[in-house]
Amino acid sequence: MDFANLFFLLLLSLTPFPHRRHHPLTLAGADPTLIETTCKTTKHYDLCLSSLKSNTTSSTADVKGLALIMIGIGTANATATSSYLTSQLPAAAATTATKNGSRNAAVLKRAVLKECADKYTYAGAALQGAVDDVGMEEYDYASMHVMAAADYPSACHNAFRRYNGLLVYPPELGRREDGLRRICDVVLGIIDLLINVGGN
Ligand SMILES: *[C@@H]1O[C@H](CO)[C@@H](O)[C@H](O)[C@H]1NC(C)=O
Ligand SMILES: *[C@@H]1O[C@H](CO)[C@@H](O)[C@H](O)[C@H]1NC(C)=O
Ligand SMILES: *[C@@H]1O[C@H](CO)[C@@H](O)[C@H](O)[C@H]1NC(C)=O
Repeated sequence: MDFANLFFLLLLSLTPFPHRRHHPLTLAGADPTLIETTCKTTKHYDLCLSSLKSNTTSSTADVKGLALIMIGIGTANATATSSYLTSQLPAAAATTATKNGSRNAAVLKRAVLKECADKYTYAGAALQGAVDDVGMEEYDYASMHVMAAADYPSACHNAFRRYNGLLVYPPELGRREDGLRRICDVVLGIIDLLINVGGN
C-alpha cells in the first residue's frame, strides 16, 4: 500500500468529520453570477473562473454541477500528465543504450518515470471516485478522494527525492504537479461550499 492510499484510509477513519465554517451562499440555480461567487470561495479564483468557463455547460450548472465540471478538468489534467510521462519512457530507455556511463541513472530514471505515470493514473482514478461521491452527495468522501488525488503527485516528487543526486525532478513535472494541486484546491473549495450549504 502506498502513502496516498494510507493517507486516504487514515482520513476515512477520522469520523465524525470536522465541522466546517459556514458560507452565506445558496444553491439556487439560474444565477448568472454563480460561477464568480463560487470561484471567490476557492483558493485560486482565476484558475477556477477560466477552467469553469472553458466548459459551456457551466453557464447553466448549479454548484454541484460546477464541482463535477472542475473534477472533470482535474481528471483530464491527471490523465494528460500520466500520458506525458509514459511518452517519456522510450527516451529514457534510449539513453540506456547510447550512454554507457549513465546507464544506471537512465534505468533508474525510467523506473521512476513509470512509477510517476502510475501515480498520475491513480490520481485520475481518485477523481473519478469523487465524481461518484458528488453524485451521491457524499461530500466528505468526495473531499477525501480529491485530497488523495492531490497527494499522488507528491508521491511522484518523493520518488525523485529518494534518488537525490542521481535524478533531478524535471521542472516540467513540477509545473504539472502544481497545476493538478491547484485544480484539486479549487475542487475542494467548491465541495466545501456544498458541505456548508447542505448542512444549513
Ligand atoms: C463539461 O463538463 C461535463 C461534466 O463534467 C462533461 O461531461 C463534459 O464532457 C465537459 N465538456 C467538455 C467540452 O469538456
Ligand atoms: C560500456 O559497456 C561495456 C559493456 O558493459 C563495457 O565493456 C565498456 O567498458 C563500457 N564503456 C565505458 C566507457 O564505460
Ligand atoms: C494541466 O495543468 C498543467 C499545469 O497547469 C497545464 O500546463 C496543462 O495544460 C493542464 N492540462 C490539462 C489537460 O488541463
